[in-house]
Amino acid sequence: MTKEKIIECCNIVKYYDQGPQKVEVLKGLDLIVHAGERVAIVGASGAGKSTLLNVLGGLDRPNEGEVRINNKAISTMSENERGRFRNQNLGFVYQFHHLLGEFSARENVAMPLLISGQSKKNASDKADAILARVGLENRVEHKPAELSGGERQRVAIARALVNEPACVLMDEPTGNLDAGNAKAIQALMLELSKVVKTAFVVVTHDADFAQTLNAVYELHEGILRVTDAA
Ligand SMILES: Nc1ncnc2c1ncn2[C@@H]1O[C@H](COP(=O)(O)OP(=O)(O)O)[C@@H](O)[C@H]1O
Ligand SMILES: [Mg+2]
Repeated sequence: MTKEKIIECCNIVKYYDQGPQKVEVLKGLDLIVHAGERVAIVGASGAGKSTLLNVLGGLDRPNEGEVRINNKAISTMSENERGRFRNQNLGFVYQFHHLLGEFSARENVAMPLLISGQSKKNASDKADAILARVGLENRVEHKPAELSGGERQRVAIARALVNEPACVLMDEPTGNLDAGNAKAIQALMLELSKVVKTAFVVVTHDADFAQTLNAVYELHEGILRVTDAA
């Protein structure tokens, strides 16, 4: 049985131009993630982990190489196409939560569903269900400013998972969470990876969390290497 490749990227090069200086961050990086696979990315601060997630998610373009998600090259899409593709195939949890301040937790989580054309009732019900899964059933009406850091993080995770995307990219998702909540998130990830075959790429400093995933890669000097931590 051949496993379906959800992320496939080959020879990714990414540098930032800083005046005359060129900061080379990704130096010919390869990565394949299959359906239902949960992969951890670890590495020193400044190693390029967030850059890598941005490139994988089509938020930033590589200077060389191609990222394929679900067998489609995201670099060749138009801006509109890429937006739609991201909404349908990708969930993103940023290092900082990026929730919309004027909307409630429920509305924030329902947003990707509304954008993809689901009815308000449907979107709202699904948002409530997944918020309950991350332990926020009593916070659905709260706005981001009325939530703690860890609660905001859980809303952001719920929003990334709510439309059961093929692939979820997470930047330090459990950094602000206590052990109990981190466990709930891990269980939810495991379930989605099994039931819906969602693939996860998770940047984390949490070694215990990384251990619970299928593979651990270290981003070092611009490429990924398998660590024996897994
Ligand atoms: N927009 C940018 N412009 C210039 N340099 C950047 C930019 N974003 C990140 N960098 C540099 O790229 C390197 C990798 O950053 P980042 O991907 O944020 O690392 P990590 O997430 O592993 O801490 C760092 O040296 C950082 O200073
Ligand atoms: Mg980072």
